[in-house]
Amino acid sequence: MTKYKVTKAVFPVAGLGTRFLPATKSIPKEIMTLVDRPLIQYAIDEARAAGITEFIFVTSRGKSALEDYFDHAPIIEAELKAKNKKDLLEVLKATDMESGAIAYVRQQKALGLGHAVWCARRLVGDEPFAVLLPDDVIAAEKPCLQQMVETYEETGGNMVAAMEVSPAKASSYGVLDIKDDMGTLVSVKGMVEKPKAEEAPSNLAVIGRYILSPTVLDNLNRMKQGAGGEIQLTDAIADEITAGNPVYGFRFRGQRYDCGSKAGFLQATVAFGLARSDLAEEFSDYLHHMIAQQKAAQ
Ligand code: UTP
Repeated sequence: MTKYKVTKAVFPVAGLGTRFLPATKSIPKEIMTLVDRPLIQYAIDEARAAGITEFIFVTSRGKSALEDYFDHAPIIEAELKAKNKKDLLEVLKATDMESGAIAYVRQQKALGLGHAVWCARRLVGDEPFAVLLPDDVIAAEKPCLQQMVETYEETGGNMVAAMEVSPAKASSYGVLDIKDDMGTLVSVKGMVEKPKAEEAPSNLAVIGRYILSPTVLDNLNRMKQGAGGEIQLTDAIADEITAGNPVYGFRFRGQRYDCGSKAGFLQATVAFGLARSDLAEEFSDYLHHMIAQQKAAQ
């Protein structure tokens, strides 16, 4: 066994999802569907591929559809069995979770991502853990978290997935202040949450995949409010640097879609639809037709 094994993952899904109102009035954002699978399924599959065996959901009021999603569906299953629909039964299998592998903890108030992660502290205990934000969907040959875990097993410390963004976009992200750029890996000397374009320390932005040391949870115990009045995970990771613990940015190979925003969700729908062999031809024809029509109308 390697020194830095990661088997637990936290999925913070307690946010209000206001950018998708009115849909998110009654549907959790993470249940919204990319082609034919809810966002949460992509995150769970990615975590499984990375060797995660314990899945911790930080939920909130109104998210019971998420809990049901990973439960057995006896009526649907009986119906499919009776009709001998083996392919659909197989599709349902991807949603099966081993008993006890999945745990839910509530965040009573949406006080920020840092607070949501802190809510999982007792379930995480004293070991490194991953955090996946399901609204960041990453298309990659090798799943992003798996890429990170393979490197983390050598480095330990703390690791955040990072991607290049334009200065104008930096104010939407946590941005890395780079100490040493080693290519795929960068060591980090500071992190700034949502900096103004002119104050961004680099063009490397943090996206929703992390591997963290349990000391980050101790940092969160101190609970300072950061940018936007929220308790920021970025601040708790930056405290690690102050304490002399390593923090790395990881340039993953893949394309990230921000499915927390409407434009990002639409882009992901096009990309994932075109990547599906059962849909690509019809969908691509349709897109070409739409673009041609739009051009003709201009
Ligand atoms: P977002 O910043 O996208 O916030 O959270 P949101 O509430 O989900 O969506 P908008 O901005 O209102 O549209 C990023 C991730 O952090 C989780 C969210 O569920 C999402 O996975 N989160 C955020 C929490 O779990 N709790 C919080 O207090 C805030």
